[in-house]
Parts: sequence; C-alpha cells; structure tokens
Amino acid sequence: MIALTGTPGTGKSAVAEILKRKGYRVISVTELARLHDCILDESGEEVVVDVEKLSKFRFDGVVEGHLSHLLSPDLAIVLRCNPLVLKKRLSGRGWSEEKVMENVEAELLDVILVEALEECSEVCEVDTTNLSVEEVAEIVEKIIVGERESYKPGKIDWLSVLEDRLDEVVRL
Ligand SMILES: Nc1ncnc2c1ncn2[C@@H]1O[C@H](COP(=O)(O)OP(=O)(O)OP(=O)(O)O)[C@@H](O)[C@H]1O
Ligand SMILES: [Mg+2]
Repeated sequence: MIALTGTPGTGKSAVAEILKRKGYRVISVTELARLHDCILDESGEEVVVDVEKLSKFRFDGVVEGHLSHLLSPDLAIVLRCNPLVLKKRLSGRGWSEEKVMENVEAELLDVILVEALEECSEVCEVDTTNLSVEEVAEIVEKIIVGERESYKPGKIDWLSVLEDRLDEVVRL
C-alpha cells in the first residue's frame, strides 16, 4: 500500500490519473472510504473521512489524497511544490483567501511531510515545482520500484529557497 500525499494542489490527482493509465492500481482516499463505509459527513464542501476506521483496511496499490499518509501505508510519497507556485495555483480554485493561505503555509512549513514521517516507516518526497505532471509520474514509478535514495526527506527547504520573498508568500 503506497500513499501518494501532499498539500492540496501539489498534483496528487493529476499524477494518480497518469499512473492509472499506465496500469497501476490506484484509488483516492474518498473512493476507498466509500468502499468501506468510512464517510462521516459529505454535506459540506469537503467529504469528512473516518481516518481511524479506514486505516484498518488495506489496499494493494496507490492510495491518493492528502490524508493517505494517515492510513498506515508501507510507503508514503509526499509531493512538494514551491509555496509561491502553489499560491498561484490555489488562488485559481475560487477558494477563500483564508483557505488558500492555510494550505500555502502548510506547504511552507512541511506539515504533511512531518505528519508522514511521524506515521510511516518509509517516506520519500518529490519537488514537483519544475516538473511536468508526466515527469512527476515517472519519478513516482521509480520510487515504487525501489529507487528511493535520491528522494529521502529533508532536502527541500522552502524557507531557504524563498528567503527574501517570504513576505510574498504570506501576504494575502
Ligand atoms: N507538476 C505540475 N506542473 C504543472 N501543473 C500541475 C502540476 N501538478 C499539478 N498541476 C496542476 O495543478 C492543479 C492541481 O492538481 P491536482 O488536482 O492534481 O492536485 P491535488 O494534489 O490532487 O489537490 P487536492 O488535494 O486538492 O485534490 C491541476 O490543475 C493540475 O493540472
Ligand atoms: Mg486531488
């Protein structure tokens, strides 16, 4: 069971779509939750998943979604994206400024990566900023077959990368 996770907008679903086309077994967290009756509420904007219950079930393949690393996967692949790029991407979604900033800050501060490191025995991270979706999918495939050394966590440091542009990131 491989979790394809990351902050919203980092490209999980786009990459998952390509993997599916290539013949991988892929499911989203929401689909998996539906399958096992683990949806608590879907009356609001977002589907609320019973993560604790869902984590008791296994899936032989790739589980995609920003909660997938909480489902006790064997490996978590965390997609990363420069927060300034992510900010532009999420601003185009029609989300509230607050919701955009919440997610941009989460990416800046490695929130999903840290959670994945706490929850999963094996974690890889991929900086997708200058890659196409196809290129990211190729890297994810490499990681799946065992090429993990180059994608060990800890190499991505947005605070250093952005340095003097930090105000642009946190400004509404
Ligand atoms: N590497 C990339 N280069 C350029 N555009 C990308 C890249 N990855 C994703 N995108 C684009 O960014 C947008 C968000 O991607 P996607 O929906 O796959 O994100 P997600 O991680 O699944 O987000 P969510 O958690 O909200 O479901 C899409 O329009 C997608 O085409
Ligand atoms: Mg998605």
